[in-house]
Amino acid sequence: MGRLLTFDIFRYNPNQPGVKPRMQRYLLEETPGMTLFLSLNRIREEQDPSLMFDFVCRAGICGSCGMIANGILRMACSTLTRDLFPSIRLMPMPLFKMVGDLSVDTGTWFRQLNKKTKAWIHSRQAFDPDALEMPMSNADAANIYELERCIECGCCVACCATANSRDDFLGAAGIHRIARFMLDPRDGRTQPDYFKILGTQEGTFGCFETMACEDHCPLNLPLDDSIEYVRDKAERMGKKY
Ligand code: SF4
Ligand code: FES
Repeated sequence: MGRLLTFDIFRYNPNQPGVKPRMQRYLLEETPGMTLFLSLNRIREEQDPSLMFDFVCRAGICGSCGMIANGILRMACSTLTRDLFPSIRLMPMPLFKMVGDLSVDTGTWFRQLNKKTKAWIHSRQAFDPDALEMPMSNADAANIYELERCIECGCCVACCATANSRDDFLGAAGIHRIARFMLDPRDGRTQPDYFKILGTQEGTFGCFETMACEDHCPLNLPLDDSIEYVRDKAERMGKKY
């Protein structure tokens, strides 16, 4: 027989503003290989169909199942209950718009981030349908690949002191994304173009440097390095422009 797990789960439905936020308790017997996602699914199927939480891939790829479990930001689909105490407290990620219970809207935040950072290749060349592909060195491709791995889970933003105190801050995910384009030889943006996005309190100069972002990134992306790289570039640009 597995351990008896106690789940204390945050409940709130913004569509029912008359019902105050509360914690609700559920009990569940642990089974081998059980994840937080599997537990929540069982609770919803067997005990409470009204429980709201997000998931898509169940494989740590889509970035939709972030939540706070026992005080730490985690992905529900890749967190095994056997790695937690039998008393499990689940809260939604802060900062993002609440959809209900453990479900928050990270998509709107990331769409705005993509617009603010203009997160696409800016070519200065006129479109030529017969142009050959632009060659890239293996080192450049490997560096860009590393920075492209972000799954937009929002953990680095939810744990960020600056992002929680000003909603215009780009966050580690945004700064990391800009670093990705700065490294890309196909991107034709100039240093003043980048400085407009980065050289402000909304950008890299707003970071309080608590560096919780890298500690909480489920993919272990090198967020500290990205912030340092971008800040160093922004400081040099600031001296010039
Ligand atoms: Fe999630 Fe890491 Fe991307 Fe931040 S950088 S959104 S923590 S995958
Ligand atoms: Fe996709 Fe967890 S369900 S990352």
